[in-house]
Amino acid sequence: MTMYEIIDKKKNKKELSKEEIAFFVNGYTKGEIPDYQMSALLMAIVLNSMTDREIADMTLLMANSGDMLDLSFLGELSVDKHSTGGVGDKTTLIVAPIVAACGGKIAKMSGRGLGHTGGTVDKLESIKGFKIELSGDDFKNQAQNIGLAVIGQSGNMTPADKKIYALRDVTATVDSIPLIVSSIMSKKLAAGSKNIVLDVKFGSGAFMKDKESAEILAQKMVNIGKKCGRNMAALVTNMDVPLGTFIGNALEVKEALSVLKGETKGELLEVCLSLSASMLSLCLKIDIEKAYKMAQDAVLSGAALNKFYEWISAQGGEGIELEDAPFALDIKAEDSGYIYKMNTQKIGLASALLGAARKTKDDKIDYLAGIEILKKTGDYVKKGEKIAVLYTSHNKLFDEALKMYLSGIEIKDTAPNKEPLIFKTIH
Ligand code: URA
Repeated sequence: MTMYEIIDKKKNKKELSKEEIAFFVNGYTKGEIPDYQMSALLMAIVLNSMTDREIADMTLLMANSGDMLDLSFLGELSVDKHSTGGVGDKTTLIVAPIVAACGGKIAKMSGRGLGHTGGTVDKLESIKGFKIELSGDDFKNQAQNIGLAVIGQSGNMTPADKKIYALRDVTATVDSIPLIVSSIMSKKLAAGSKNIVLDVKFGSGAFMKDKESAEILAQKMVNIGKKCGRNMAALVTNMDVPLGTFIGNALEVKEALSVLKGETKGELLEVCLSLSASMLSLCLKIDIEKAYKMAQDAVLSGAALNKFYEWISAQGGEGIELEDAPFALDIKAEDSGYIYKMNTQKIGLASALLGAARKTKDDKIDYLAGIEILKKTGDYVKKGEKIAVLYTSHNKLFDEALKMYLSGIEIKDTAPNKEPLIFKTIH
């Protein structure tokens, strides 16, 4: 068997055997297959796709490429959530304490920002003192004792995904259903939770641009998880507009806190309660209406807020006195009319340009940088009216970010149709 033959076979739209998939997953992880051959194969997969059997084989081989976490000490209560990535997506910061306050056990591994999308690890690191690395024992004890521990991807878990993902990032091979399914589900299976809820996003700020592909992606991930003995659910949610009002690391922590305090309601709270309800329904084995009510009560009673503080302090966080950015710039509407569309990817990129994301792997993040969105899709604005505020620690970054933000806003005389935030729930 050679890599040349495998690439040629996929180029000709043929189904690869399990042995062939093992050959390239294991060979590439060990450094025996060069990047140029793996890139050619990845592009052939993007163009010609994979059958469900091929995707399942690739996912399991990637999951088994490194350590598999054993969370069996948490019994049936272990529960994880994964978002396919979005802009302003701070749901983990809200959902995790809600679920833990209601009795679920979250031992979660989260990622850093990727492209225009933010990452939970970067958001948590904007809290002074917060430790994103815990020893294996501390991680497990914290999950057992307070029901909630979140760490960054560490150690030798899914090394196949680490290598393949880094190559996809620079070879325009990210937006492929088989490659996304195997990447996400290999990590979720290796991370060990019995119950898994996926938040599959679609729209201009997501990797899947339309709801139909997001639904197919969600269904395939649910099927693979179930085949591997996990209880699965997925929500297909709208990322055609940023989630909530703030984008940027410290800003999003503040917004999450205000949701948990009951001060911020609306769509962000709504999607967090729905995700929490799906997670609680799976891990506590209760119906979804009862689970939704439990999640609501946890916010209303302050139990979720207390759990948030307990979690942050258990991981070394020194209170949530997050500073404001030294520089702020108002963005004014260029025309009168309805905000008809927001190109959410461009809005995420504007936040990145202000310093909220890394430009290179080793870049430092400006945790205070980001955007406050005052007017969103469907709102009527007058020319010159303030529609957003940009924040940064380096005021020379405003120009480019402002241009990027405005290029992502389309104003028209007619109002757009209102799209629901949650398109579908798959169980
Ligand atoms: N998130 C992942 O972890 N992998 C993908 O391929 C896409 C989003």
